Amino acid sequence: MSSAEPAVATLETPDSHPKRVAVVTGAAAGIGRSIAERLAADGYAVALIGRTPGTAAAAASEIAATGGTAAGYDADVADRAQVDAAVAAIRAELGPIAVVVANAAVAPQQAFLEMTLEQWNTIIDINLTGTFNTVQSCLPDLVEAGWGRVVLISSSSAQRGAPKMAHYAASKGGQLALTKALAVEFARTGITVNTVVPSSIDTPSVEKKRADGKIPSAEDMAKYIPVGRMGTGADIAGAVSYLASDDTSYVTGQTIGVNGGSFIG
Ligand SMILES: NC(=O)c1ccc[n+]([C@@H]2O[C@H](COP(=O)([O-])OP(=O)(O)OC[C@H]3O[C@@H](n4cnc5c(N)ncnc54)[C@H](O)[C@@H]3O)[C@@H](O)[C@H]2O)c1
Repeated sequence: MSSAEPAVATLETPDSHPKRVAVVTGAAAGIGRSIAERLAADGYAVALIGRTPGTAAAAASEIAATGGTAAGYDADVADRAQVDAAVAAIRAELGPIAVVVANAAVAPQQAFLEMTLEQWNTIIDINLTGTFNTVQSCLPDLVEAGWGRVVLISSSSAQRGAPKMAHYAASKGGQLALTKALAVEFARTGITVNTVVPSSIDTPSVEKKRADGKIPSAEDMAKYIPVGRMGTGADIAGAVSYLASDDTSYVTGQTIGVNGGSFIG
């Protein structure tokens, strides 16, 4: 399947009541998948972008099976040509983009003194430049419509640091600064730009790190979280749902921590 072809779309033709189109990157699994599910349930036509070919299509198919409007596209967010091709296909198949959620990221661990320039650049390319690619590619539609919502998914690592994750924390801190800069640059255009800052969300990638012995058990982590549990993808999706809504025309440049009361940042 080419990245320019939609993998799955419902048969619904939204001519009479066009659905707002929401793009979610890194949407095949984890938090991105939860966000895509929530936005579909909220009534958006959701374009899921995934890096591993076919994975976004499979997730979109499952969302469509529950009655949502969803289509999957393959793109590596670090590759601008792939992002532009996917965005062009989304526009052609679903319509102009109204909501952009930049969620795709990688979070490997590496001691700072052993971190190579290549490792550093890879994380910045995916997490920060990937956010730039995604937002800049989609944004002309929002500007044209005079309405839009941009939501970035950062990390509490940007606020409190994280050992062996200097590249990741720096990339996520860049997203916080990007949020502020874009919020003021587009403040008069009907577009709001905000960031959700997750902390300790139990996703398959976190589970894998736990299985590899890189992080403590969920029970041990929960001891240090005021609400007494790890978060879920649905917890993040709820915040994104709010930030994507009409209720946030006066909310821009903000970071919302979804962290179980861990008072960071
Ligand atoms: N899980 C947590 O506790 C936690 C905490 C803080 C921040 N976050 C942030 O939340 C977001 C989602 O995290 P998650 O736990 O669901 O992780 P995850 O690894 O399960 O999901 C990330 C998704 O991004 C995709 N992706 C990675 N590189 C990509 C690329 N180059 N192009 C396109 N897609 C790519 C992956 O395939 C994956 O589907 C990330 O931005 C992460 O930094 C998560």
